[in-house]
Amino acid sequence: MRGIYKALWLNEDKFLEVIDQTKLPFEYETKVLRTTDEIVTAIKDMTVRGAGVIGSVAAFGIYTALREVKSYEELKQKAKLIRESRPTAVNLMWAVDKMMELLKDSNDLINDSLKFAIKLNDDEALESEKIAKYGCDIIEDILKTKNKTRINILTHCNAGWLAVIDEGTALAPIYEAKKRGIDVHVWVDETRPRNQGASLTAWELTQSEINHTIIADNTGGHLMQDGQVDMVITGADRVSASGDVANKIGTYLKALAAKDNDVPFYVAIPASTFDFDIIDGVKEIPIELRSEDEVKYIKGVDKNGDVQEVLITPKDSPAINYGFDVTPARLITGLITNKGICEANFDKIKEKFNL
Ligand code: MRU
Repeated sequence: MRGIYKALWLNEDKFLEVIDQTKLPFEYETKVLRTTDEIVTAIKDMTVRGAGVIGSVAAFGIYTALREVKSYEELKQKAKLIRESRPTAVNLMWAVDKMMELLKDSNDLINDSLKFAIKLNDDEALESEKIAKYGCDIIEDILKTKNKTRINILTHCNAGWLAVIDEGTALAPIYEAKKRGIDVHVWVDETRPRNQGASLTAWELTQSEINHTIIADNTGGHLMQDGQVDMVITGADRVSASGDVANKIGTYLKALAAKDNDVPFYVAIPASTFDFDIIDGVKEIPIELRSEDEVKYIKGVDKNGDVQEVLITPKDSPAINYGFDVTPARLITGLITNKGICEANFDKIKEKFNL
């Protein structure tokens, strides 16, 4: 049992403590989440984000809720609030439903909820380790086929340890490559509007001393045409039973460019990211619509080192902010899962995951 995680952990008083991801990369701050309301707010305002970590926080959220209510019936209301805090990443609903199912016959709700939340997180961490290994085997294959020593990988958004316990999904094979002594370089999409690539992925890679270059979101296509991208790896927030992938807005455009340039496009996911109830991801996956302010304002550090948020558009121009898009399965080379590499189609997913 680990009990302590890098993006979140239990503090001395057994409350959940998390890295405040809204403050990175300029400030490292943590937040203690003591109530269900604080859990829900942290997910909504993206103090914590990334599909896996939202699920992890939700699992500990059920335990947190049980410090406020005593019965399973009362817990249902709190669980609903947590479950509805964000709409696209299915790990959130999966974690809440799993916790509620495990607890339904419990005679010791508080202790059992803590035990189950820790176990859920330990299992996710093991899946991340497996994703790292399977993904890195692909990196080695690509280098062998191309007879190269350096791999250039493009990634979108943040799917590292800030997003999924413990090593992430898309970044897990990259961390493993570093461990295996592979010369790895990462093209980091800035990922407008919230810049999870520029602020979080770049920060994670800096911590691990992994070579990387931040690029404006529109640069990937040009780099692919120029032979400077050997593969793309992204994470996902929800994958349909037929292999359609919802991930951060802009992922679809990268997949189109990869297809046009014969660049392998992989999506790394734990089993909790599948939504087997959905077949057609484009039509059925709910896409989060967030505040237009995330498009109109940008955060950074001024010359005095102070964090500032500034308007970058005409004040009255309207903006729209879809958080995610869906990449159809036909554009995906393979899913890097805890059970190995899986083709993104219904039959192969069914076979691998015993549907
Ligand atoms: O809005 P976010 O930052 O929670 O979105 C995160 C992403 O889209 C990640 O790429 C995704 O969660 C995959 S990593 C689990």
